[in-house]
Amino acid sequence: MCGIVGYVGEREASGVLVHGLQLLEYRGYDSAGLAVLANGDVSVRRSVGKLKNLENLLAVEPLPGKSGIGHTRWATHGRPSEANAHPHRAGRVVLIHNGIIENFLELRAELQASGREFSSETDTEIVAHLIDDEMARGRDLAAATRAAIARLEGSFALVVMSSDEPGKLFAAKSATPIVIGLGDGENFVASDVPALLDYTRDMLFLEDGEMAEISSAGVRLSLFDGTPVEREPRRITWDPVTAQKSGYKHFMLKEINEQPQATIDTMRGRLLVESGDVTLEDLESSNDWWNQVERIDLVACGTAWHACLVGKFFIEKLARVPCNVDYGSEFRYRDPILDGRGMLLAVSQSGETADTLAAVEAARAAKVRTAAICNVVDSSIARRSDAVLYTHAGPEISVASTKAFVTQLTALLLIAIHIGRRRGTLAADASGELIESLLHLPGPMRDALAMADEIDALARRYVNAENFLFVGRGLNYPIALEGALKLKELSYIHAEGYPAGELKHGPIALISETMPVVVLLPKNGAYAKTLSNMKEVESRGGQIIVVTDVDDPAVEEVANDVIRVPTVHSLLMPIILSIPLQLLSYFVAVHRGTDVDQPRNLAKSVTVE
Ligand code: G6P
Repeated sequence: MCGIVGYVGEREASGVLVHGLQLLEYRGYDSAGLAVLANGDVSVRRSVGKLKNLENLLAVEPLPGKSGIGHTRWATHGRPSEANAHPHRAGRVVLIHNGIIENFLELRAELQASGREFSSETDTEIVAHLIDDEMARGRDLAAATRAAIARLEGSFALVVMSSDEPGKLFAAKSATPIVIGLGDGENFVASDVPALLDYTRDMLFLEDGEMAEISSAGVRLSLFDGTPVEREPRRITWDPVTAQKSGYKHFMLKEINEQPQATIDTMRGRLLVESGDVTLEDLESSNDWWNQVERIDLVACGTAWHACLVGKFFIEKLARVPCNVDYGSEFRYRDPILDGRGMLLAVSQSGETADTLAAVEAARAAKVRTAAICNVVDSSIARRSDAVLYTHAGPEISVASTKAFVTQLTALLLIAIHIGRRRGTLAADASGELIESLLHLPGPMRDALAMADEIDALARRYVNAENFLFVGRGLNYPIALEGALKLKELSYIHAEGYPAGELKHGPIALISETMPVVVLLPKNGAYAKTLSNMKEVESRGGQIIVVTDVDDPAVEEVANDVIRVPTVHSLLMPIILSIPLQLLSYFVAVHRGTDVDQPRNLAKSVTVE
């Protein structure tokens, strides 16, 4: 998840590139760099930290020239450092990249064997070497880029330049966005529309498997194999703020819709379909622990804590290791049992949450092994843990967490499968079935997202409620908690989540005609029992909203509203059920006119106790 900008024309390229990168600031970054061609040479400037640092460097060491590329990095492979910042250079090739090259270890080994040396820890540098290698065999930049791309597995948006072919940029796309801006005697390329809106509104969007040759005179599109592609440009009428949100009204809605892709990015390169296994290279060094561990403490705050509750279910079911789930703020003060038989697994989107970090420190102080699931690479929790599994969900801007949550669930399931297979508690066929279902999960996720209009209409009907209950059972009970948390965070409606079976032990006293109760009712989750809980609510006049994958007249009879979601593997239902609840909170908040992306009193990253 990085910001990409490229320019060819008559202006000073560095001004256009830096301005474009400033407009992509919302994507979050940890280092930035520019490459500009002048007098037959490409010069590169890079710096760690905010874009301001690069701007300061350019003030001292300017980069004159009329064509170039710029990049802000949001680290995936390799920590944020100047050496890992883009652009990367190999011989005569300079390039920038957004995405993940899955087979980079094999390619690096091959290139190293042929005598090539690397100056970074990134997957990107491999691509520069591959292209340079092809050029050394006499190919031009276009042919060399095509040949290199044919060897890549994974996702990429690439922009490549070379001093051998001045005034030309080559862009290529596979599963990561690239847009080309068309000017008069100048042309642009970027990862996102906002970077280009001050220069042009005529855009060409590359499709997967396509390349573009960009010069000041024009743009030529082709497939990776060279077959020409014709496409009419689109005129973009978005205002700059809408453009940052890719046309969505809020970052939250954008991030909700990014969940299928984010889930793919979490799984990418980690599923071994044939053997029914999960490979977690990032946790490889901790393999022995997974075999020996007798107890896992899952520690987190907020939404990530809900992910841990589901994670406990996954790990106990598939790997039969007892789990304890704690809030960061509780764990550190409750004198937990910290000994060599247990380990701590911290879950955090930002990797900076003070209470979660303190739990990691407490475990370290007691010499207990630590692992983390984080979204932000090289964040404090990631650095302080012995091993880390990144979710690769991309920057999450909205304070209310959505795609980070769903990818935490995915990562926890991957860990559970990984440990289960290692410990022999999960048979290959059961794991194979689960992996197959995971691979197909983005489809049903998109189907659930397609219910947005229906949920919007539902939200309008309940917009004036002052209280809500959410109930579920088993591994979907934490989804009820998360549904309630989302609603209160966004719309300030009082909402509580409960295990459905616990209703009669207290909360049922709250039920009246003014109390909507959201019931999570998946087919494979104590269906009949939850249905009877629903009847208890009905007989006390409560308004029932059911989220289910079952088409059952008995449900229609009892419910006021039914949201029907696709059926997936029972262990994946928490992910599917999360989507309508996120949309419900979102639309209720929109109709109540609250600040969706920055709810009152909340912060995205809580770095104080
Ligand atoms: C804050 C955010 C929540 C988030 C929690 C934990 O409270 O508002 O959305 O779930 O922190 O954040 P983390 O970055 O550790 O996942």
